[in-house]
Amino acid sequence: LRSSEIAGVGHYVPERVVTNADLITLMDTTDEWIQERTGIKERRWFTEGTDTTANMGANAARKALEMAGLQPDDVQMIVFATLSPDYFFPGSGVLLQRELGIKAPIPAFDVRNQCSGFVYALSMADQFIKTGMYDNVLVVGSEIHSSGLDISTRGRAVSVIFGDGAGAVVLRPCTREGHGILSTHLHAQGEHAEELIVKEPSSNRQDRTAFIQNLENEVELYPIMNGQNVFKHAVVRFPQVIKEALDQNGFESKDIDMLIPHQANLRITQYVQHKMGLPDEKVFSNIQRYGNTTAASVPIALSEAVQEGRIKRGDLVCLAAFGSGFTWASALIKW
Ligand code: ACO
Repeated sequence: LRSSEIAGVGHYVPERVVTNADLITLMDTTDEWIQERTGIKERRWFTEGTDTTANMGANAARKALEMAGLQPDDVQMIVFATLSPDYFFPGSGVLLQRELGIKAPIPAFDVRNQCSGFVYALSMADQFIKTGMYDNVLVVGSEIHSSGLDISTRGRAVSVIFGDGAGAVVLRPCTREGHGILSTHLHAQGEHAEELIVKEPSSNRQDRTAFIQNLENEVELYPIMNGQNVFKHAVVRFPQVIKEALDQNGFESKDIDMLIPHQANLRITQYVQHKMGLPDEKVFSNIQRYGNTTAASVPIALSEAVQEGRIKRGDLVCLAAFGSGFTWASALIKW
């Protein structure tokens, strides 16, 4: 089987910066509370009429394609990871295809796997390249959270965490022996499905119209999170899935040159860093500036790490994510 490599990576974040001080005008919170618990100083919120989940993904994809030296028409498959698609259906993958002006009827599909969505999507793309079915695959993670948050005091424990943004990579076959994506590892534990959830609009309702007309239940439209339980599982699953990738390929923690964790919460990242015994310069964090962008967080972080020259040819790079589902995943890459 052949392997795949990341030939290009790019990201896009909306222009509008929302600081913790801005949130204080919307809800009863403090900069200190937010920074102490999450590390977040500011996040981006989309602008209606300018940003959509699909077109933010397209902006990131154009940069990834440019880095790979490819045109949109070279793309042979699109995998789009998001929990905040433009429509209930169809998925945002087909909208991205249209946005990029790709006329060929290439396959396009969405992965709905929340914070680990991008790593799942990357793994799926990798399988299609391994089997020889496609050469150039676009993998995108894009989210607009801000329109779906309860930005009042009632929703403050969740709404201060999330932000909007997009990242993308182009995957192609790797011709360098022993390089590229070495392995991917995917897990889920559905018994925790309700620990971090948006319940509505649900299909399990005889009369959805009546529900919509009577939005006293509107809290169900917003994310509900059992924060402490999410934290407890995240700090176990992140190190586990990173170690799984290292073990499979005969590496140890000290061999990692750059860990790109899903930017869930700075406290979670610090815990994982400590557990893995990694120095600061080997763990990438940008949650301070973007908050938690769910499926977009890993490709945005990867893109910035590459842009800043913190990842070089031959480096061992580990991507890892944990989130709603619960689902968790990792990918080990020889860059
Ligand atoms: N500002 C000020 N006070 C707040 C805020 C806020 N934004 N949010 C909650 N509070 C208050 C609560 O009302 C509560 O007050 P009380 O004691 O008077 O009742 C107090 O702060 C403590 O609330 P808890 O919910 O117990 O806060 P906790 O210490 O658990 O911190 C947090 C919450 C930050 C969400 C924490 O549980 C956590 O980090 N969990 C991990 C979840 C996570 O990172 N999720 C990211 C998304 S999932 C993923 O990407 C993996």
